[in-house]
Amino acid sequence: MVVSARQDQRQADAVILVGGRGTRLRPLTIGTPKPMLPTANAPFLQHLLARIQAAGITHVVLSTSFKAEVFEEYFGDGADLGLEIEYVVEETALGTGGGIRNVYDKLRFDTAMVFNGDVLSGMDLGGILDAHAAKDADVTMHLLNVADPRAFGCVPTDGDGRVSAFLEKVEDPPTNQINAGCYVFKREVIATIPENRVVSVERETFPRLLEDGARIFGHVDNSYWRDMGRPEDFVRGSSDIVRGIAPSPLLTGRTGESIVDPSAGVAGGVLLLSGTSVGRGTEIGAGCRIDGTVIFDGVTIEPGAVISNSIIASGAHIGANAHIENCVVGEGATIGARCELQSGMRVFPGVNIPDAGIRFSSDA
Ligand code: GDD
Ligand code: MG
Repeated sequence: MVVSARQDQRQADAVILVGGRGTRLRPLTIGTPKPMLPTANAPFLQHLLARIQAAGITHVVLSTSFKAEVFEEYFGDGADLGLEIEYVVEETALGTGGGIRNVYDKLRFDTAMVFNGDVLSGMDLGGILDAHAAKDADVTMHLLNVADPRAFGCVPTDGDGRVSAFLEKVEDPPTNQINAGCYVFKREVIATIPENRVVSVERETFPRLLEDGARIFGHVDNSYWRDMGRPEDFVRGSSDIVRGIAPSPLLTGRTGESIVDPSAGVAGGVLLLSGTSVGRGTEIGAGCRIDGTVIFDGVTIEPGAVISNSIIASGAHIGANAHIENCVVGEGATIGARCELQSGMRVFPGVNIPDAGIRFSSDA
């Protein structure tokens, strides 16, 4: 495993919120938590952990709930990644604020950097820590501008960068500036979040802190950014890592249109384009064309299949000359020869679609 050259040691803990159910990525998230889904051939979370390590933060606390055991089984104590990882489990999900409060006893430093565990970003972690210290802020939030802010937390700031409101997922946001899902907290501020109950940091904690006059500052960084919560974003984010558009220390220095695990078998004349990734033990037959697609482990794709902008989960079987576009194929599903799947279709695990000349489309 590659452990990147590290910047100076930072006196901060990293807390990563990974307790969500990943509902928008079903059926991929029925058995696997969203941050553990393969992205450019590594669990998504591993790219974030590598960024944290490269920024000089060593102590990481994972705030888990749904499928908690999967994280520890994979990452263990974090030593292989040059980190020290601890796990805190919520028996029932406590929400984003409850999840942050729940790790309080594990914190070692006066500064905690909290990450949503499903954000792919090139933001300079050292930069936000420096800004936080320079302003002597209670909380510093990574903010950025997006075309459509309605699906996010909208965060207006004043001329000095001080946050004036926090408006989670509103229909008429007053600005395009959004919460990018990374916060630097003074540890003592985390102690003010109520214990042992569900708390939303976005809907309850931030508005309450603002009302109390806390010093909350925005740190605008418009580097690469994507929330991986929806299939189209997941596919795009993974492809962007493969193509070097989204930075990941795990893939530094390599270039190319695709990444193929050494144990995969790719027949002659196969085109793997636009950031496609091919996982362990996957077999791809002659003449396939695969664009911008995430293929997990142990998948079989028969000759002549054409697949674009899709996710093919572990153990799936794609028949000869099938056409699949903008779809999610669940674990162990079988797509028969010549089937056409289009427009956001999601095939659930184990489902068997027989050989056909039929066209399936969610908008048909
Ligand atoms: N520990 C724990 N417990 N973690 C949780 C819980 C919980 O009960 N609920 C959600 N999480 C984790 C998720 O696993 C995810 O990593 C993170 O918290 C955010 O949850 P999402 O469900 O992905 O939220 P979102 O994308 O709709 O909105 C959030 O992210 C946006 C940026 O991507 C909000 O923070 C928005 O304000 C923000 O703009
Ligand atoms: Mg999200």
